[in-house]
Amino acid sequence: MSILTNIKISKLANSLGLDVEHDASIDKDSTYCMNNFPLDQYDTQLFIGDNLVHLQELALHSSQVVDVCYIDPPYNTGSKFIYQDNRKSNNHPLFGSHASWMSFMLPRLCWAKELLKKSGVITISIDDYELAYLKLLMDRIFGEDNFIACVIVCRSKNGKGSKKNVATNHEYLLVYGNTSDSSLIGELDDSAYPKSDEYGSFRTDGLFRKKGDASLRTDRPNMYYPLYFDGNSGKVSVDPIDGWEVVYPTDSKGMERRWLWGPETARKRQWQLFASKKGVIYVKNYASQGGDEPKRRKIRTIWSDTSFYTERATNEITEMFGSKIFDTPKPIDFIKKIIDVCGEKDAVVLDFFAGSGTTAHAVHSLNRGDSGNRKCLLMENDTPIPNNHAARELGYKKISDIVTARLNKIQKIDQSYSYTCISLYDAYFEEKIEATS
Ligand SMILES: C[S@@+](CC[C@H](N)C(=O)[O-])C[C@H]1O[C@@H](n2cnc3c(N)ncnc32)[C@H](O)[C@@H]1O
Repeated sequence: MSILTNIKISKLANSLGLDVEHDASIDKDSTYCMNNFPLDQYDTQLFIGDNLVHLQELALHSSQVVDVCYIDPPYNTGSKFIYQDNRKSNNHPLFGSHASWMSFMLPRLCWAKELLKKSGVITISIDDYELAYLKLLMDRIFGEDNFIACVIVCRSKNGKGSKKNVATNHEYLLVYGNTSDSSLIGELDDSAYPKSDEYGSFRTDGLFRKKGDASLRTDRPNMYYPLYFDGNSGKVSVDPIDGWEVVYPTDSKGMERRWLWGPETARKRQWQLFASKKGVIYVKNYASQGGDEPKRRKIRTIWSDTSFYTERATNEITEMFGSKIFDTPKPIDFIKKIIDVCGEKDAVVLDFFAGSGTTAHAVHSLNRGDSGNRKCLLMENDTPIPNNHAARELGYKKISDIVTARLNKIQKIDQSYSYTCISLYDAYFEEKIEATS
């Protein structure tokens, strides 16, 4: 599989004219494998060091284990963060200065694909600057047919003031399935169901008269028949009842159309039909689909909940650490929503650009809320933090120390929470940190 994936990476890189570093495996005889870190042993496993090495090593030993991947890579806007955000190439013939960032992302996305289950879903935060280039990579790696959505995520009310003509207040979440087996489970349906009967609360938003193609009486003559209704109770019957009115599937222009079901089905399921006072027949849309699980619906492509604003994430970090020790955190609620709409309660969630570890926090919070058993795999670099940075002043020497501290804080609140940190480079970085301090 290693060879095949490496060939795939080389082929893709060649076809796009990208110069890609991809065989990152550091030790072919290493004991690094998921057998040493079984998925169900810890709530969270943090892999410290370059994610390319970890993704490759994990995929080599244990492919197709991840249900939901969420990443928030460096947006490459040239900002001065504690991590590198400035991968710019010189005049690539197709991609201009963006080729370098694409070369960085390409092998990581290919290895992430190996880690995803066939039914898995990958979601990526990105802004305007690399969106087009990321979309192109994703179409090539995951396939255009597996594109699910490009969600617009509102980041603030007023936007950033740094551009000349616009105050941008949104970014994107690209969503792809790994294969045609992938699908979202959808968002919780919190819309109103104002009516109720003995089967539960419902609303009437679906006509029982067929609309559109093949909706004429002549298309399905056996689906044109009278129904009897009582406008006061809303009840409907296929058989005549004294005092009830009769209605046919005729539209407002007098055109004879047809019902959705034939008379036999309608007789069996007439409890599902509802008549307005004027005799418009609807199929009841119930709030619950039966069972204990709340009803879900298709996700919408604009997410503007104020709990997804960047300010919220900054406050979360400041509250947790006492100061703003990480520049680009995501809000917990935002990642909770992503994980919730993409995967079941026992999903394995991967974030290989973990940053301050919001994804682990979101997984923990979701599990506490719905008694789920999700597991989280995180990857984060062990790049040294410069001396003058707020995080360094609090004693954090490497970027990964921030997420480790966050996991520790979660454990302090919930002693049943378990995590482990796996680093390939401990010795190497001890030396480097000493050298820079
Ligand atoms: C935009 S931040 C992620 C923020 C995160 N979503 C949060 O809520 O805190 C991107 C992170 O990816 C990390 N990163 C960048 N390149 C990496 C690499 N090659 N391996 C591991 N981590 C990397 C950076 O150190 C940074 O912390």
